[in-house]
Amino acid sequence: MSSSVFRSDLMAGKVAYMAGATSGIGLGIARRFAEHGAKVYVVSRSLDKVEAAVTTLQAAGAEAAGTSVDVRTFPDVERSLADCVQKLGKIDFVLAAAAGNFPAPAMGMSDRAFKAVIDIDLLGTFNVLRASFEHLNTPGASIVTITAPQAEAPYMLQSHACAAKAGVLMLTKTLAMEWGAAGVRVNAVSPGPIADTEGMRRLASTPEMEQKAVQRLPLGRFGTVDEIGDACLFLASDAARYVTGASLSVDGGMGLGDAHVG
Ligand code: HXC
Ligand code: NAP
Repeated sequence: MSSSVFRSDLMAGKVAYMAGATSGIGLGIARRFAEHGAKVYVVSRSLDKVEAAVTTLQAAGAEAAGTSVDVRTFPDVERSLADCVQKLGKIDFVLAAAAGNFPAPAMGMSDRAFKAVIDIDLLGTFNVLRASFEHLNTPGASIVTITAPQAEAPYMLQSHACAAKAGVLMLTKTLAMEWGAAGVRVNAVSPGPIADTEGMRRLASTPEMEQKAVQRLPLGRFGTVDEIGDACLFLASDAARYVTGASLSVDGGMGLGDAHVG
């Protein structure tokens, strides 16, 4: 749990299904929803990670459950959604945060390497959204996908992730149009570099790389998982009832460009 926890009943009575929420940013979002009263269902590939995340969420006082799922396999995603409804009663909110990434030049990755990232990020997000729609028939239902500043600006050694996240962004906007009439809002959150995450361990693997990345940020520091959780809470809440198809940058200004002088 975070040290200074603000709790409320903002999400009381709500059920959140969260893919890719067993570590890092996704788990941080799940914990934030739990702190604000939601029941939370988490999925990822590793059963050990699922069980540990459920224990963490229950320790935070939440009703929580989960199962092991690879988001690349549509029928397994469907089964997990049905299990969520059976265990927690319904689904009000869906998070699609599962992703894979590694730094490599295009000439240093095979077609299978490129496809692995596209399949987890883009196909996986499609599968989660496509399979969850039929369950999202509660008033105020909404979805948040996770993109990145690299969805809109190219980044060296990230051709797979840039392409995948650009696809996630456009999928988000397109489904916001298709599903608006059904009252289902679909938005994206675009995190900048977030401290203590697998993503940053991979993309800024030395203290020097980390320092350079911080220097480029207008706000001059990495973000926290709680800051991403708070943005997701806003988008899930009634305060965002007229917001759909938006991409909310929570990136310390990274998407504006390089703020380093000198
Ligand atoms: C080149 C690589 C590689 C590397 C793997 N591959 N790592 N190629 N450089 N560093 C190749 C493999 O050799 C293989 O190709 C292909 O990728 C698939 O690898 P598998 O291990 O079979 O795939 P899989 O088990 O599905 O694992 C997916 C993974 C892995 C992405 C490769 O790292 C993973 O599970 N990651 C999940 C956790 C994660 O990445 N978290 C950080 C998310 S951060 P061949 O040809 O040999 O078969 C993030 C930040 C976004 O997303 C911000 C920027 C956009
Ligand atoms: P992380 O801890 O590795 O989180 C990735 C999550 O996705 C884990 O729960 C992982 O669990 C799950 N996952 C991976 N492949 C999966 C699959 N095929 N099926 C189901 N679940 C799968 O990494 P993170 O850095 O916190 O990243 C979380 C999200 O934020 C990602 O969408 C990432 O692109 C985005 N993001 C991160 C940053 C950053 O600074 N870290 C910046 C911008 C965007 P399993 O291994 O158990 O499957």
